[in-house]
Amino acid sequence: MTFQERPSRPRGIIEDYRLLELHLYPGNQCNRECDFCTVFGAPKGWYTEYTPVHLDAALNSVMQHDQGTVKFYGGEPTLNHGNVIWAIAYLRDHGFQGAVVVYSNGIQADHLIEILESDPLGKTTASLNYSIATGDGAPQMPLSSLRKLEIYEAEHVGVITIGHADIVDSGRGIDPFIGEDTRSQSAHRCPHCYPVLKTDGRFHACPFAVENADPHFQLGTVKDVPATITQNFQTFLGWLDSVHEPYAVEHDLPACTVCWKHLQDLPVPQFRETPTALTKAEGKS
Ligand SMILES: C[S@@+](CC[C@H](N)C(=O)[O-])C[C@H]1O[C@@H](n2cnc3c(N)ncnc32)[C@H](O)[C@@H]1O
Ligand code: SF4
Ligand code: SF4
Repeated sequence: MTFQERPSRPRGIIEDYRLLELHLYPGNQCNRECDFCTVFGAPKGWYTEYTPVHLDAALNSVMQHDQGTVKFYGGEPTLNHGNVIWAIAYLRDHGFQGAVVVYSNGIQADHLIEILESDPLGKTTASLNYSIATGDGAPQMPLSSLRKLEIYEAEHVGVITIGHADIVDSGRGIDPFIGEDTRSQSAHRCPHCYPVLKTDGRFHACPFAVENADPHFQLGTVKDVPATITQNFQTFLGWLDSVHEPYAVEHDLPACTVCWKHLQDLPVPQFRETPTALTKAEGKS
């Protein structure tokens, strides 16, 4: 396979109330319906466009310098590539110097390449779905798309990478997964991902559990100041280490299974109070 795996970056890094990385999530609309999908991706899924309100909140909560990273996922970003291209341009016009990563199944290869090419700083890269790129655990993407992406990567080395093979028990989860059983499914320890800003205006603590509305994940909204969001995220990370992981070890459960099926047994992290009501203009769908 032409594509390299993307190296992991340090977790939990916050400077001046800004996160090293932030995920952006506009809904789970997708041109696939993978049987393991964490977000219940499907053609009938929801999609709410990025707007200046969301992107201003993103710009205020992620590091603006070249170490900062904004990650677009979904759902499938290439289905609404015009809105993604507009969003990247908005971030650049408002001073964001960092990296942009687009998670994609690659099926609409031309749209993905258009997104990559649109960044005036040339710092947008893609991460392909491991199962759909390789055909292990999902039908492989059309070979015509794969060839286009391989040629693009050969000409722009390091721009198109491949995601991790691990499958976690979130969303549709591990039970329906039919790929290689060597692909890890069981760590007790949460990977401590960076949080998500959804286009419904809410900050959610976990990109894998983003369709889970439990209060344990609710960090605040676009109405909150960045200090509230980042402090609540730190509270969430502390809760993972002091409450969530001991429970996973004690009950011998994979970390994500605890979030998906056992949260009612765990206290909600002690978040700072946040405004909860959002108007339509602020992103409530
Ligand atoms: C939810 S998808 C959205 C972007 C795009 N549709 C794609 O598939 O890459 C983002 C990433 O989550 C990964 N993913 C989906 N379900 C997963 C699971 N149960 N465990 C681990 N990763 C998962 C996908 O492989 C993909 O790399
Ligand atoms: S993993 Fe990606 S491609 Fe598969 S259904 Fe989910 S969002 Fe769609
Ligand atoms: S353990 Fe929970 S918080 Fe961590 S990645 Fe899994 S679902 Fe997300």
